[in-house]
Amino acid sequence: MWLILIFYGCLAVGTEAQSGKITAVSIIKGHNYPVESHYTRTRDDYILQAFRIPNSASCRRPGTKPVVLFLHGMTASADTFLLNGPKDGLPYMLADACYDVWLANFRGTRYSRLHAYLNPNKNEFWRFSFHELGVEDLATFIDYILQLTNEKTVNVVAHSQGCTTFLVLLSMRPEYNEKVKTAILMAPAAFMEHTSTLGQTVFRPYIMVSPDSEFLQHSKLRSHIMPTVCRLGSWSVCNLYLFLNGRPSSHFNTSVYPSLLATHPAGISTRQPRHFIQLTDSGKFRQYDYGRVKNLIVYGQKSPPDYKLYNVQPLSPVHIFYSDDDSSVNATDVRFLGSKLTSVVMNRITKPTWHHLDFIFAITVAQDINKPIIQILDKFSSK
Ligand SMILES: *[C@@H]1O[C@H](CO)[C@@H](O)[C@H](O)[C@H]1NC(C)=O
Ligand SMILES: *[C@@H]1O[C@H](CO)[C@@H](O)[C@H](O)[C@H]1NC(C)=O
Repeated sequence: MWLILIFYGCLAVGTEAQSGKITAVSIIKGHNYPVESHYTRTRDDYILQAFRIPNSASCRRPGTKPVVLFLHGMTASADTFLLNGPKDGLPYMLADACYDVWLANFRGTRYSRLHAYLNPNKNEFWRFSFHELGVEDLATFIDYILQLTNEKTVNVVAHSQGCTTFLVLLSMRPEYNEKVKTAILMAPAAFMEHTSTLGQTVFRPYIMVSPDSEFLQHSKLRSHIMPTVCRLGSWSVCNLYLFLNGRPSSHFNTSVYPSLLATHPAGISTRQPRHFIQLTDSGKFRQYDYGRVKNLIVYGQKSPPDYKLYNVQPLSPVHIFYSDDDSSVNATDVRFLGSKLTSVVMNRITKPTWHHLDFIFAITVAQDINKPIIQILDKFSSK
């Protein structure tokens, strides 16, 4: 069931360089790190791609390396974590610190648009929300990596919806708890009552009525046009366009915009933001709401069941990073999430205007986020 293909990045980079397209492989190669592409197949037959940085010239410690698996947010992909480059990008810093670094790409993103028999040009392909990303995709990635590396556990580093998939998986399939050593959740999206984003306002009417279908597709044409358009206009206008977020940050590394716009958005299903909007409306962290009649058929009850957060008990405490000024994932909601978890360490960012993407792209991210994360991983992953 697992392995379909493994090929080394150098094979892929030739063709990609010709088309001038920026990809995770070309970015990693460009920084002189080794890279591998891996494909794995879910129980429901999606074929997903993960990237791996198996090594770094700066790692001088021999022996086995603990696995770190990166989980990206909505409209993002593995690319998101890679754009900062080696000095300030956590995947490279962890490879330098002798970790075996893996970057997931959830179904529907530019790297994971294959299915055994469904066509991404048809709506059937897009019948999923973050629920399936957790219960199917994340489980598949974890099992694939553990089998390939012969390790017993992975460490998880997640941002935003990546955290949602983690919470969904461990709630729904608690047997995965013992496969997770540590989990770092940055701006975890779960309770959404106090969230305010463009997705929740401007796009809401469209998202709520459209069928399950592709949304914010990664397009080559747009990837070439948007950087120019944004340069002529204003970068912060493009910030709105990109992540539907809406609030300028004084920390954001603006040098990253051209490559960010060339690689994002990476593609999602309309059901993903619709499920999040449902969470905002209900104030609950619960499964997808199909409407009363279909809920009765699917769940045996009129409203969708809550995710059982008391099931989330990986082998060491969950470490949450959150910010007072993140309007996409509000601090009030994150603290409520923390109160529902059995074992949790809360790391609060109080810097004014520290927003949702600053956990990855702030100028000071190496100092404020990445080094503390590496310390946590060093402490727990060796035990
Ligand atoms: C978080 O929610 C509270 C309560 O609704 C609100 O007062 C606050 O402005 C929100 N924070 C952000 C950064 O949007
Ligand atoms: C800002 O982004 C640029 C371009 O991606 C990168 O080279 C640089 O290292 C980044 N700086 C920081 C502090 O993250």
